Amino acid sequence: MPALRANTLPCCPSGRQASPADPAADNGREPGRAGNTAGVASVAPQPVVAQLTRAAIFLIVTINAGGGSEAAVRALCGDLAALLRTVGFRDLEGRLSCVMAFGSDAWDRLFGTPKPAGLHPFREIRGVHHAVSTPGDILFHIRSARMDLCFELATQIMSRLVGAVSTADEVHGFNYFDDRDLIGFVDGTENPAEEAAIRAAIIGEEDAAFAGGSYVIVQKYLHDLTRWNALPIEEQEKIIGRKKLSDVELDDAVKPASAHNALTTIIEDGQQLEILRDNMPFGEIGKGEFGTYFIGYARSPHRIEQMLENMFVGRPPGNYDRLLDFSHAVTGTLFFVPTAGFLDHVATHSPSPSPDGGKTPHALPAADRPSTRPLCTDGSLGIGSLRPRDKT
Ligand code: HEM
Repeated sequence: MPALRANTLPCCPSGRQASPADPAADNGREPGRAGNTAGVASVAPQPVVAQLTRAAIFLIVTINAGGGSEAAVRALCGDLAALLRTVGFRDLEGRLSCVMAFGSDAWDRLFGTPKPAGLHPFREIRGVHHAVSTPGDILFHIRSARMDLCFELATQIMSRLVGAVSTADEVHGFNYFDDRDLIGFVDGTENPAEEAAIRAAIIGEEDAAFAGGSYVIVQKYLHDLTRWNALPIEEQEKIIGRKKLSDVELDDAVKPASAHNALTTIIEDGQQLEILRDNMPFGEIGKGEFGTYFIGYARSPHRIEQMLENMFVGRPPGNYDRLLDFSHAVTGTLFFVPTAGFLDHVATHSPSPSPDGGKTPHALPAADRPSTRPLCTDGSLGIGSLRPRDKT
């Protein structure tokens, strides 16, 4: 029986419970099931697979120098679920949720080894257009039906991190009519749902020590709406690959190979590699700023990186995504999303120096360092700074 529970940051009032993962996951493996045979481990993902919401805050911070900063971040990891309960309980129908994710350098500083197999700094792409790589140690993806709940949780989180972090970027996203982005198209239609969403976004036994985790790439896009709106609607539809009003997909006979939804469809070994998106519009009218905050979760960063390559360089090279003639990315960062159990069990004490002088930092003294077991049966991962969950 699969042990994966989706969307269950402890006591998180948000989102739906997903049913057990389909055994027909990538490579026939079940996400969330450990590679061990001794028993089935339970890993609870953070609420990556959450319902679309009306409001979101995307908060990216960098960790300041000094051990005190790292200790403050560690302490927050363990308290995040309680903070979420405190704020979310004020309106359960607000479905408040928060995903906390870590960049590659931050992972090295905070948790050391082992490290999630696919975690690396975001790689910029210089193709026909430029996908920039920008700093970010921690991402907080806060979602709710109400912006005030998002705002309050972000405030509480940052009050815990005063002096320990600096804000790299903060975007407040809103739902725009029927899930449209500011270029006027419905955004999110082909997102996988339910079990397919878990298969797309949640790591399985391909990286057993991090099963239940996920990768997330964010990019902040600014649109030139004056030029976009001057384009005939038929041209816009060929760029996106769907009808603007009805959202119906264009027929293959008329859809160009450069259409956005063609270039972001990737098939490897006969299997479509999907990702889970929750893009949000944002903007500041007075500044003439109109944007889409792209956020994509996947069980491997490769999927999203391949889509970006197709968009920015082209498939084949030169056959690039014309949406980029009207929208440019001003940020780009890759993060890893550990399980909820991992966050719960992050130790608050500072790491000791690693034996090789910091080349491979670790978070804990030797006695607490990872065992060879990939997963504990109590729902924690049993790695790095994790210790078995206290029984209550
Ligand atoms: C300016 C930024 C972007 C905008 C406005 C945008 C908008 C859209 C729209 C309107 C659709 C069609 C409806 C849907 O299925 O959701 C779509 C589809 C999609 N987009 Fe984007 N998108 C943006 C960036 C990206 C990026 C950076 C990626 C991946 C790296 C991406 C991946 C996808 C995928 C996978 C689909 C579904 C393709 C399919 O299976 O039909 N998008 N996007």
